[in-house]
Amino acid sequence: MQANPLPYKFIVLDGVEGCGKSTQAELLAQCLRQSGEQVTLTHEPGGTAVGEAIRAVLLDADREMSALTEAFLFCASRAQHMQEVIEPALAAGKVVVCDRFSSATAAYQGCAGGLGWELLDEIATGGRQPDMTIILDLEPAKGRKRKQPATQPDRIERKDDEYHRRVRAGFLEYARQLDSRAAIVSADGSPQHIHQAILEVLGIESQAGR
Ligand code: TMP
Repeated sequence: MQANPLPYKFIVLDGVEGCGKSTQAELLAQCLRQSGEQVTLTHEPGGTAVGEAIRAVLLDADREMSALTEAFLFCASRAQHMQEVIEPALAAGKVVVCDRFSSATAAYQGCAGGLGWELLDEIATGGRQPDMTIILDLEPAKGRKRKQPATQPDRIERKDDEYHRRVRAGFLEYARQLDSRAAIVSADGSPQHIHQAILEVLGIESQAGR
């Protein structure tokens, strides 16, 4: 068991394409479970049946949509996710580890897509902010190289390099605005190295170091 109770109940991992956040979310959830926490590991867009249907529309490379439509669909997926998964888990005393959240809406639609994030943030979170948002920072070009060359890029992955550079800048600026409720961790290292850096941010004693 962990010596001290975890001060963060709602933890988000986010970052540019290929930054490794899904691997890190799994490693973190596993580590928290080993320390005795009940953990809900979830992701956006998706995490519910309605959210997965919205995700399919959002990522379909053959469909074009307006910037506002895109933003509202991400927010719609989040609204369902909050009500059906995140709020009930927090109310039951579980730790929620979420792979992407409103930080992604701020970086992709707000910054790279040019919609600004003040209004979007309000709609996107429904007023509930994560206790800690960890941004895994990586040069977008490196992230792209890490992605499976065999998979076809989805509607968002195929946007141009300049868009993905703005996404990165958006994540960094959003993290600065969140101040002590966010941390930036370099994603340019081995999965185990990044995992240790995340544990440090969360004040969790490393299992390996015992
Ligand atoms: P994923 O690759 O983490 O599964 O996320 C799917 C894509 O959705 C990814 O390109 C990032 C994008 N996205 C947004 O543009 N805005 C959002 O609010 C979220 C949650 C994801």
